[in-house]
Amino acid sequence: MPFFEPGLPELIRTHVASGRLRFTTDIAEATALSDVHFICVGTPQQRGSNAANLSYVEDATAAVARSLTHDGLIVGKSTVPVGTAMRLRSIIGDATPPGISSELIWNPEFLREGKAVADTLTPDRIVIGGTSPRSEATMREVYALPLSTGTPIVVCDLPTAELVKVSANAFLATKISFINAIAEVCEAAGADVSVLADALGHDVRIGRQFLNAGLGFGGGCLPKDIRALIHRSRELGATKAAELLQQVDEINMAQRQDIIQRAIEACGGSVLNRRIGVLGAAFKPLTDDVRDSPALNVAAALHLRGAQVVVFDPEATETARRMFPTLSYADSLDEAVAGADVLLVLTEWEEFRTMDPARLLALVSDPVVIDARNCLDAVAWRAAGWSLTGLGANSREIDVVRELVGAV
Ligand SMILES: NC(=O)c1ccc[n+]([C@@H]2O[C@H](COP(=O)([O-])OP(=O)(O)OC[C@H]3O[C@@H](n4cnc5c(N)ncnc54)[C@H](O)[C@@H]3O)[C@@H](O)[C@H]2O)c1
Repeated sequence: MPFFEPGLPELIRTHVASGRLRFTTDIAEATALSDVHFICVGTPQQRGSNAANLSYVEDATAAVARSLTHDGLIVGKSTVPVGTAMRLRSIIGDATPPGISSELIWNPEFLREGKAVADTLTPDRIVIGGTSPRSEATMREVYALPLSTGTPIVVCDLPTAELVKVSANAFLATKISFINAIAEVCEAAGADVSVLADALGHDVRIGRQFLNAGLGFGGGCLPKDIRALIHRSRELGATKAAELLQQVDEINMAQRQDIIQRAIEACGGSVLNRRIGVLGAAFKPLTDDVRDSPALNVAAALHLRGAQVVVFDPEATETARRMFPTLSYADSLDEAVAGADVLLVLTEWEEFRTMDPARLLALVSDPVVIDARNCLDAVAWRAAGWSLTGLGANSREIDVVRELVGAV
């Protein structure tokens, strides 16, 4: 596979070997052999604008329609601004050869990188928008397996299907920025945001997921999707969503500045010529995706301030190197840690969560760690002799309380 996704290579191998899965770069061959055509191409942020770049979706959809040799169902899966599918319908109407019937519906994708296989085989829900009775029946056949095990299906109109996806991402992004805003209050008030999040999470209306204070969200979806929604809602004159998500985006980006500032402070006011070990480059664990990665963003910013930054990631070193070739990359955790004046934990890989603080102590120059994902056992690290800074916790207060509790 050209990217890291747990479980995917095995699945691809099995189905290529069985002859049920084929790859081609010849669109005529692909359309000739198929009745249902999924459009899954990228919808990145436009350069110099918050809007989505829809040129790939438009090109791919028109190309499929043009090359149809028999009636076909075109299924949009890419994440697009509301209103796109309606426009694509007129594009395929013009492009479809005479005598052939084509239909376009929308079926947004909700998979998570790192869990893509399970999310695809057992999705939380299936949404299909703009279907006719015939295309709905076809989609029920396509998804027969998950539907047979009780996966809910929502059948709706085109704009609702487009909006479900971006609204889901906007809500998740809001949850993360919410807890990061509360983390700031916790820090000022001497409360512990991790314990608070656990307590909040017991409420089934709230839930514990996406309530981890830290470096914030990144990747190829959440940032560009909320920006595209800001842009589209302004176009539609629906400014409340735009205002809310603008705040969400600002809080999120400020987390990166906050960690940069903490690293500068940990180095005594300047990172110039200081050795900084960066653990994590991927935007989250279990992926090698570094698109808009907060970890890589922080590493690059410290490098630009003159720090000697050495980055280690269990899977994303090569993708990170392609994006930021000027940074130094380590082949192992120990190599990144060796001689560090400050250690930054920026992606919560299991390998980092379970590091042995006593063993690493002997490798560093200064035992200072900034846990930007609140993923380390702060008590164990401090007990091993490290100065540890997390987010949203009045660390000293907590230590004092824990010592008192221990004494009692
Ligand atoms: N990555 C995710 O976790 C995820 C989850 C849900 C939805 N989505 C959405 O799915 C879409 C794709 O996301 P991605 O992360 O896979 O993007 P990506 O950039 O990694 O992949 C897009 C692929 O489309 C190919 N492509 C572009 N134009 C083409 C054309 N005309 N014909 C054939 N191929 C073409 C590119 O070469 C690339 O391989 C986006 O709209 C994204 O928002 C992504």
